[in-house]
Amino acid sequence: MSSSAAASLTHPNDLEAYWMPFTANRAFKKSPRIVARAKDMHYYTTDNRAILDGTAGLWCANAGHSRDKIVGAIQAQAAELDFAPPFQFGHPKVFALAARVAALAPGDLDHVFFCNSGSEAVDTALKIALAYHNVRGQGARQRLIGRERGYHGVGFGGTAVGGMVANRKVYGTLLAGVDHLPTTYNRAEQAFTKGEPEWGAHLADELERLVGLHDASTIAAVIVEPMAGSTGVLPPPKGYLEKLRAICDKYGILLIFDEVISGYGRLGYAFAAERYGVLPDMITFAKGITSGTVPMGGVLVRKPIFEAFMQGPELAVELTHGYTYSGHPLACAAGLATLDLYAEEGLFERARKMEPIWADAVHSLKGTPNVLDIRNCGLTAAIDLASIPDAVGKRAFTVMDKAFHEFDLLTRLAGESIVLTPPLIVSEAQIGEIVEKVGKAIKAAA
Ligand SMILES: Cc1ncc(COP(=O)(O)O)c(C=O)c1O
Repeated sequence: MSSSAAASLTHPNDLEAYWMPFTANRAFKKSPRIVARAKDMHYYTTDNRAILDGTAGLWCANAGHSRDKIVGAIQAQAAELDFAPPFQFGHPKVFALAARVAALAPGDLDHVFFCNSGSEAVDTALKIALAYHNVRGQGARQRLIGRERGYHGVGFGGTAVGGMVANRKVYGTLLAGVDHLPTTYNRAEQAFTKGEPEWGAHLADELERLVGLHDASTIAAVIVEPMAGSTGVLPPPKGYLEKLRAICDKYGILLIFDEVISGYGRLGYAFAAERYGVLPDMITFAKGITSGTVPMGGVLVRKPIFEAFMQGPELAVELTHGYTYSGHPLACAAGLATLDLYAEEGLFERARKMEPIWADAVHSLKGTPNVLDIRNCGLTAAIDLASIPDAVGKRAFTVMDKAFHEFDLLTRLAGESIVLTPPLIVSEAQIGEIVEKVGKAIKAAA
């Protein structure tokens, strides 16, 4: 070890080397927000300040933090089987977890492809869509349709179908042949709606326009988040997803729900597909599958799609796709323990029961200075703030920073919105505490 590397170990406050993701690095390093441990609903700073977790980490710690059952399962798995090659070999827990995930999913969404993140799940689903049409002799179906203000991770595929301008604009042409539906959000029509807005189902008809433009024979799939999360909680207008499904059916286009956020109880059900009674052809998931403890993602696929691949010589690989860490033993152990915990504690039902309490609490912030809109769906909410002229994003950043440093609350920033998505174990008192603290932080940033 070089003397400078040795020295750095004795200088834990040297923050320079780490290039932080989706972070204002220079601002962070001047005033760091560092958490050192976590338990249940709280993070703890290095000086042991308890920070109430208003965001389930990053929409993922749905069961709360460092739960004994999940921790124990990961520890035991590391000692028993650290790694198993996923290509041409398997291990017991990966089959068990796939069966458990399939059992949770609606309809004939009964096959699971594992990967390690939401981004990988999205790119996997897009590739399966293209390959599916190809094996059926419809290889001209190559176009992928996303939606403005959608977020589908950071792979080239997910970035291309995503619709958040800042995430796209510096990465060139991305994938060819991608088009976008319009966003479902319109403040003039929807401001301060509790849950799903009445206005906006007609926006699904834009898919008809895209079919008219490109022809259905060139379109492989449409991908949407049932509830757009990362762009600031945009619940689907009532009837919108049903319309999308019907138009996709009419033209043989696959419908993919990106449920990386909305899955595993966040909207009160195992998947949002169940909440909305709309069956997509594929569901992407990640985050809540392991309650954020070990990276894992996956794609749920309907039976006819899987079966379309199961042809040709039996010794041939049916889908030339996969990751070294697909179905990693530690992730599978964590996933199984997490699903057990969700079931034992009835956390999906709990989220459903808490939703009206949560909605009333967050909407009580209407009238707070600079609040332009409040949206909620399941145990999620977003509060849009008025921008400071010539400093877009600064007000929400200040609220998030003050919430952490001054009010001991973890919140999330999305442009000029504050986003709240607590673990599903959040109590009524803690909901009150989150909302009170956010209100104070907004006032402090006025
Ligand atoms: C809907 C959606 N898709 C994909 C992703 C990307 O997931 P990851 O960050 O695990 O790659 C996210 C992350 O927040 C997401 O919200």
